[in-house]
Amino acid sequence: MTDILTIPRPDDWHLHLRDGAMLQGILPETSRHFARAIIMPNLVPPVVTAADAAAYRDRILAARPKGSGFEPLMTLYLTEDTDPDDVRAAHASGLVTAAKLYPAGATTNSASGVRNFDKVLPVLEAMADIGMPMCVHGEVTDADIDIFDREAVFIDRVLDPLRRRVPDLRVVMEHITTRDGVDYAASAPGKLAATITTHHLIINRNHLLVGGVKPHYYCLPVAKREDHRLALVAAATSGNPSYFLGTDSAPHIDPLKENACGCAGVFSATNTMACLAEVFDAEGALDKLEGFASRHGPKFYGLPVNEATLTLTKGDPVTYPDKIITGDGPVTVFDPGFPLHWHVSD
Ligand code: NCD
Ligand code: ZN
Repeated sequence: MTDILTIPRPDDWHLHLRDGAMLQGILPETSRHFARAIIMPNLVPPVVTAADAAAYRDRILAARPKGSGFEPLMTLYLTEDTDPDDVRAAHASGLVTAAKLYPAGATTNSASGVRNFDKVLPVLEAMADIGMPMCVHGEVTDADIDIFDREAVFIDRVLDPLRRRVPDLRVVMEHITTRDGVDYAASAPGKLAATITTHHLIINRNHLLVGGVKPHYYCLPVAKREDHRLALVAAATSGNPSYFLGTDSAPHIDPLKENACGCAGVFSATNTMACLAEVFDAEGALDKLEGFASRHGPKFYGLPVNEATLTLTKGDPVTYPDKIITGDGPVTVFDPGFPLHWHVSD
């Protein structure tokens, strides 16, 4: 029985760090275990220009715990007014790694997202030209499409037609939650990939709804039925480089989650690696964790694998704090609902 596992230090390819006191409070939860992360730009107001990204990057670097070498990989928030030249320059200078496409209204802080996809074609063509990946929140927002179908419909109606119009565009389907997403993401290796969150490997929609609504399991895209969760687990543990870790760890203070209109977002930075080791171990696939958390992401993004390592050890169940107390208020840590025997030991 394997009870110790050393892997290259992992990266998080989809992370929300927020700003101000929240950033200060939660950044150590990620920088403790992860070397780099793709930083989501959905601040209020969003990170739209290269200048916005440079200023946000400085605030993140300033918030790092002493001695931390954590590297934020910045993204731009695409709007219908994004200037292709600004995107080109931001990428050429190394300031930004990717750009994020949010359909307007799809999720938390996405009001400035795209309504008319034709309007962003010039930017997407520029990105295809320079090899800059587009990260996409893949859900339609039409009121007549059921929330559980929004990902599958997005693939058919928006993503596939868009990729046909800009065939050289490299795309990361963010936080996939369905078998449809799993299948489509593997259809164009090197061109297309998908991130999978820790919590979508663990919870299905019953966890969210049966026995009372659990606001801390509410996120977007919403967790789907068990069959889809099983497809995600099979994909993550398959060793296929089209899938890699993006935790989508997305903090909101408890009063905004435990609310008559609760915010979407699961905060899992604190115990993500322990949760993942538990999931991969249960599948008999511990040897695949390294690819999922540490190798496939850098490969897709054309970055080196981290030289530093992370060691996980299996033993008696470990406890993590229930909440992280930030200057903005308490943030509840994801509860996987089972004991965690693995912990990060080095
Ligand atoms: C994210 C957030 O809170 O910013 N929420 C979420 O449920 N995942 C936004 C997002 O990634 O969709
Ligand atoms: Zn997110």
